Amino acid sequence: MEDLGIQLVDSSSWLEMEEVAMGMEENAPFLDLVKYGEEQYSDSLGWLDVDEWAGDKWLATYQELAKEVQEKADVLVVIGIGGSNQAARAVVDAIGEASSVRIVWAGNNISADSICDVLKEIEGKSVYINVIAKNFETLEPGIGFRALRSFLKEVYGDSYAERVICTGTQESHLDELCKENGFRFLPFPDNIGGRFTALSPVGLFPMAVAGMNINAIAAGAKHMRQRLHTEKASENIALKYAVVRNQLYQKGFRMEMLSYFEPRYFRFAKWWMQLFGESEGKDNKGLYPLFGNFSEDLHSIGQFLQDGSNVIFETFLDVQESGASYVLHNDDVDDRFDYLNGKDFDEINRAAFEATLTAHSKKFPCVKLTVPTMDEESFGQLFYFFEFVCYLSAKILGVNPFDQPGVEAYKQYMFEALGKYE
Ligand code: PA5
Repeated sequence: MEDLGIQLVDSSSWLEMEEVAMGMEENAPFLDLVKYGEEQYSDSLGWLDVDEWAGDKWLATYQELAKEVQEKADVLVVIGIGGSNQAARAVVDAIGEASSVRIVWAGNNISADSICDVLKEIEGKSVYINVIAKNFETLEPGIGFRALRSFLKEVYGDSYAERVICTGTQESHLDELCKENGFRFLPFPDNIGGRFTALSPVGLFPMAVAGMNINAIAAGAKHMRQRLHTEKASENIALKYAVVRNQLYQKGFRMEMLSYFEPRYFRFAKWWMQLFGESEGKDNKGLYPLFGNFSEDLHSIGQFLQDGSNVIFETFLDVQESGASYVLHNDDVDDRFDYLNGKDFDEINRAAFEATLTAHSKKFPCVKLTVPTMDEESFGQLFYFFEFVCYLSAKILGVNPFDQPGVEAYKQYMFEALGKYE
């Protein structure tokens, strides 16, 4: 399997390699803690050993159910929000459905316009739904499920229940609903928080329905885990990235931008943004995660990056093989782009990337993360890498990576306004 690579590119000299090496030595004890997981977080570490929820037996279970859906459905509506849908959406959007089932995403907002769009899109099709919710109290998937249930009941009558697959925690209210109504049930691991569930039924089942090779995703994750366990601290890529992020935070950088030149990474970037934002942004600390969808965003925020206040550093996802090609040919129209005759979009994109890296790294430090291709193995490696780094980086920062007390504040006002407590 081809490996991910990491490199610090910093012509601005904010960070010298010796300083990074010293930081890695100093924080090496955290690497050992994270590799095996700490007792205090034992109820959140079900993702650390990939086999726990993505071992062969589990993969076969997800695939068997996915096969049934593939045989009977045109569309699978995935109802979930945040950690309950982002990982699956990241992979399906990047690779594209490879089965006859189209995946439609719902339950991730409260917009009447969006739910009407979903209902319009699935009209006349054979529809299955997968409701994913850890505690089933979140409003968006709750009302999304109602809307889709009404649709299914109207179209399929009493037999609608066989088209409902719920991914919920055992003995939750969703589990009870499954028992009462005859919906199918997949376990939402009670020892993993939403944003760490990419390699569990939460992420893997919808990916399997979309025809993603979930064995390869799990293999990529296991490969990364093995690597992070065996690479010594002074060379460990997760420790290096976690240390660099924290050192830059200490030097006054307040935002990390995940930039990429393949727009198909958009949903992956949203997954990454949630993972780091919700895990590290607490106790008035943390880097704000944002993303740059290049080259498009170079024509908007590019100005700020190059010339604005120095609060952002960048981590680039650098894909070695995009797997696509389009060569520009001379069409005898004098559009003044003839210097590009015979060049591939891919080659031009690479030139834009290298130029951006050169220019930006003169202003602030950049991290280059090389990714072999946008295939399932690479996504498996990326999911495990970033989840591991997130735990490690939060340890160095001194925050609990697995809770999210801040997301409750607005909900109290909203529920009061909606009469939940009357
Ligand atoms: O990471 C988390 O815990 C959250 O972002 C959750 O994934 C998100 O709030 C959805 O939660 P639930 O599936 O319980 O509705």
